[in-house]
Amino acid sequence: MSVSIIVGTQWGDEGKGKITDMLADKVDIVVRFQGGNNAGHTVVVGDRTFKLHLIPSGILYNKCVCIIANGVVIDPEVFFKEILTLEKEGILISPERLKVSSLAHVILPYHRMLDSSQEAKRHEEKIGTTGRGIGPAYTDKISRVGIRILDLISKEKIRKKINKVKRMRNLTITEEEIQEIVAQYSEYGQKIKPYIEDTSLYINKAISSGKKVIMEGAQGTMLDVDHGTYPYVTSSNPVSGCACVGAGIGPGKIEKVIGIAKAYVTRVGEGPFTTELLGKYGDYLVERGAEYGTTTGRKRRCGWLDIVVLKYAIRVNGVTEICLTKLDVLDGLKEIKICTKYKTKDGIIEDFPLDLDVFSKAEPVYDTLAGWEEDISQITEYEKLPEKARDYVKTIEKMCGVKITLISVGSKRDQTINLLRN
Ligand code: GDP
Ligand code: IMO
Ligand code: MG
Repeated sequence: MSVSIIVGTQWGDEGKGKITDMLADKVDIVVRFQGGNNAGHTVVVGDRTFKLHLIPSGILYNKCVCIIANGVVIDPEVFFKEILTLEKEGILISPERLKVSSLAHVILPYHRMLDSSQEAKRHEEKIGTTGRGIGPAYTDKISRVGIRILDLISKEKIRKKINKVKRMRNLTITEEEIQEIVAQYSEYGQKIKPYIEDTSLYINKAISSGKKVIMEGAQGTMLDVDHGTYPYVTSSNPVSGCACVGAGIGPGKIEKVIGIAKAYVTRVGEGPFTTELLGKYGDYLVERGAEYGTTTGRKRRCGWLDIVVLKYAIRVNGVTEICLTKLDVLDGLKEIKICTKYKTKDGIIEDFPLDLDVFSKAEPVYDTLAGWEEDISQITEYEKLPEKARDYVKTIEKMCGVKITLISVGSKRDQTINLLRN
């Protein structure tokens, strides 16, 4: 069994890209299994920064095969732009190294339009989507009117399917617009053809021959359409269980579920956020953590670590180990708070409440720990961390009952403390 799943345990942007890239050094295949270019995964190598939206974070290693599996929704324009950007940086991309599932659904121009028009109609209940057409593309998939990568090979299929969407979903689209989309997307179809693969077959064969695989989650547990803070969620399932569906592998193949947790919490877009800090502490985290969205550039909302959320994420994902990221951002704080419980109108609760009304009104109950003064961003051994930083790590581990195997103290590959090695 050689498959590890990487999942976000909060509201996304936990540092999945950095950790995937780091671990990809020792694996053969990295797979994206859900989401689309709403994701923004940052990988820093030396003085170069790569922002990946669709292509898996293993792409920076020549030996790694990257797969965009059936569960992802693909915007072909973004796909080719991203390839071009990487090639300009000297990263060699070829169909041997990058494979796309024939079954993945396609994001079309009307999905992007619907995304923004639906947001406008939500009035004061906006979700704050990334505007990339993700929700409408998944809606068409589930409604059985989606267009898949394999359909792009035939002009006739694209035309027929768009007309079906028009009929079934009362889409306002002119004949001229349809013709334009057919021409453009059949061109994409010819360009993407060499990358198309039966990715489930490919991954399963690779696993059988002893190859190591990382499944790179996008978004985070609290943005999961089933388990997150619905309706303030994305339209896919970022939880680990979806990795099997989204890539076509059996659950028995999974060895590890690695939960990525930021040492504090951030959220982009709307929706309740119990530990949010609106004052100087929030600003401190935004500035020190450079908390601006990778995809939309929006300022991320910041707050203290929420153990109720983390324990919930551990449960719904079956997290077997935790990578704690951005611990360095907390340097210089006199005190650090951890939310351990919620105070609700019905009393104190320790389990994440499924009713959004309860969650929205829940007040955090904090434990306060002493902070540390030192700059920890160059420390690579656990023992060399200041005592208070170790206390913080140990406290989190104890509270959630799962081992922290890796601590990240900076965006670069070597700014990492591997607790398995130390
Ligand atoms: P992802 O979506 O989960 O891959 O996370 P993002 O890439 O959107 O956001 C994480 C940001 O934090 C990126 O800019 C990373 O380069 C950066 N980052 C990752 N790990 C660390 C860390 O340990 N310390 C600091 N200071 N920055 C980090
Ligand atoms: P990564 O993979 C943070 C948020 C959006 C919005 C909600 C729905 O980088 O962690 P969508 O466009 O998906 O319909 O938007 O989900 N969102 C993310 N927030 N990180 C992400 O991805 C996100 N992808 C979507 O801000 O609140
Ligand atoms: Mg991100």
